[in-house]
Amino acid sequence: MEFRCSTASLAELPCDGLALGLFSSTWQEQLRPWAEQLGQPLLELLEKRQFKGKPGELVSLQLPGLQPSLLLLAGLGEPENFDGVALRLGAAQLAKASSGQGCSQLALALPLEGFAPASAAAALVQGVRLALFQDQRFRSEPEPRQLPSSTWLLGLSEELGAEVLRNQAICAGVELARELVAAPPNVVNSLSLEATARTLAKDYQLELSVLDEEDCRQRGMGAFLAVAQGASVPPRFLHLVIRPEGPIRRRLVLIGKGLTFDSGGYNLKVGGSQIELMKFDMGGCGAVLGAARSLAELKPAGVEIHVISATTENMVSAEAIHPGSIVTASNGKTIEINNTDAEGRLTLADALVYASALKPDAIVDLATLTGACVVALGDEIAGLWSPNDALADQLKDAARQAGESLWRMPLQASYKEGLKSHFADMKNTGPRPGGSITGALFLQEFVDAAIPWAHLDIAGPVWSEKGRGIDPAGATGFGVRTLVEWCCQA
Ligand code: BES
Ligand code: MN
Ligand code: ZN
Repeated sequence: MEFRCSTASLAELPCDGLALGLFSSTWQEQLRPWAEQLGQPLLELLEKRQFKGKPGELVSLQLPGLQPSLLLLAGLGEPENFDGVALRLGAAQLAKASSGQGCSQLALALPLEGFAPASAAAALVQGVRLALFQDQRFRSEPEPRQLPSSTWLLGLSEELGAEVLRNQAICAGVELARELVAAPPNVVNSLSLEATARTLAKDYQLELSVLDEEDCRQRGMGAFLAVAQGASVPPRFLHLVIRPEGPIRRRLVLIGKGLTFDSGGYNLKVGGSQIELMKFDMGGCGAVLGAARSLAELKPAGVEIHVISATTENMVSAEAIHPGSIVTASNGKTIEINNTDAEGRLTLADALVYASALKPDAIVDLATLTGACVVALGDEIAGLWSPNDALADQLKDAARQAGESLWRMPLQASYKEGLKSHFADMKNTGPRPGGSITGALFLQEFVDAAIPWAHLDIAGPVWSEKGRGIDPAGATGFGVRTLVEWCCQA
């Protein structure tokens, strides 16, 4: 899919399709110049169709013999509510409506007043490309699809070409994350994730260190290895580095939970616990590898980026960890594993210790950590925990720019009580109420308190059952856009 920015008039462009976004209060005025250019009674045609301009409303008109011969109109609701998310959504709806209509050059005209040109370009490119993304890798006969080969972004000057390329790189990262997360657990495992990291390292000349089980043992990663000991595929601890040319201002670490399948272990997941979806438990790893894909191309100046994931699967076997076992993490802290299904935090514990030793300026981890976070925030919003207000604000800003939703949650220190163990320094699981908070508090025990750190629980937005907004059904690639934005703003 190619994008072109253009401020030319419709008559000067080779477009066979025109897609317009119209507000409910002003659609008649917005439509008038287009009706004049096309010489068609568009207002009457739309009134006949009882068009109101409500969000989600869509009308498709064929104009045989004219150029363009296809006209798509989407309602955008009230202009007051028209933010970056709504702009992405409008672009997405129009792009989807253009599919299968025989249109090859689509002109897209949405109201861009009030948007910075770069934000408008980002929303349009992301809205179109990410909404049209389809994953047919696992079908024996892919459905043929007929999509426009070019989309012309009307009202954006040609100087925004660089911005278009930037957003193509961001979309490529989101798509990599979606493909990794959607792939079944018999395809994506710790060894295939290593291979993905190796491909990224080779394609973009990144530095890659891979620790195998023995390396992890030597580093004392008893928490990660406790999870991995029941796996049928050997664990891999992945560490990619994206180094800029020239002097380094900031060093950032991105950590992703990398459970390629989470059966729960001996605390086996039961009916209704979505065990068949637990291939998405490497959504954090998918997001950081996706972000690495984008950032390796964007190479933000002065920022060194470390991407880390402790990858394995949480399985039941004779070798699997027993509930009640006590293990020692790489910072020497002992953990009573009172629930083998709270495995993500065990793998992250050793990853956070490893990351702290790099003495970075900030650490952000992403994890499908708790069902409790889904109960709290639903499937559109990720939870954000951080003891550092500045970092929390940066991430909220980045998410807003990226069109992703984060909500800050409390690191309620008194809830640490729930993690007290009679036998070890702590348990891995607290009481059910506030379960996503005790999850975050557990992680905090493994971070050097001098380093700004944030934890994103993406258990809800990693997956969309029916598809929503610019996300098709299934894996969303959540987190990539926020991470890229945050690293580029650093
Ligand atoms: N991967 C799950 C979290 C999860 C559950 C994500 C449902 C998305 C949907 C995680 O490893 C887990 O099992 N968490 C437990 C923690 C509990 C044992 C403290 C949970 O949420 O039930
Ligand atoms: Mn689990
Ligand atoms: Zn899990």
